[in-house]
Amino acid sequence: MTKLLSLFSLFLLISLSSAQTPPTAAHVELTNYGFPIGLLPSSVLNYTLNLSSGDFSVDFGGTCQVTLPPDNYLATYSKKVTGKIVKGQIAKLEGIRVWAFFKWWSITGIRSNDEDLVFEVGMVTAKYPSNNFNETPECEGKHSAS
Ligand SMILES: *[C@@H]1O[C@H](CO)[C@@H](O)[C@H](O)[C@H]1NC(C)=O
Ligand SMILES: *[C@@H]1O[C@H](CO)[C@@H](O)[C@H](O)[C@H]1NC(C)=O
Repeated sequence: MTKLLSLFSLFLLISLSSAQTPPTAAHVELTNYGFPIGLLPSSVLNYTLNLSSGDFSVDFGGTCQVTLPPDNYLATYSKKVTGKIVKGQIAKLEGIRVWAFFKWWSITGIRSNDEDLVFEVGMVTAKYPSNNFNETPECEGKHSAS
């Protein structure tokens, strides 16, 4: 019952604090770990999460291309994205790549505090304000693929 109540107040909090409500349960789960919903495209088909180890996998049903704010980097999400999530930190990330400086880079981890997201690409990091990620991106060019 308390779990249900806290889930409910979470929904309330999210709908009050941003214009967009999480489109899927995976997005809600993401917010439970302190990450904004904008990190996941809306087209989540299915996801699994091991609550004790934090191992997760997200199934998009196909590859998905989005433009990430605020610098409009092109990013691709593989059909399946996997990693390990704990509060404020995603590690061992596989399946998200970003086009920058004329090549594709795999995002290997993401850290979050209340204000910023830090993207890790191997040993290199890039920091962005979290409020750029309050909206769930739609996959681009999906219509041409189907
Ligand atoms: C979601 O994933 C789980 C675990 O891989 C699987 O058992 C289940 O059938 C999947 N559900 C859908 C709707 O694909
Ligand atoms: C979840 O993680 C724990 C700890 O690593 C492991 O023992 C367990 O088998 C995992 N459960 C599933 C369903 O994979």
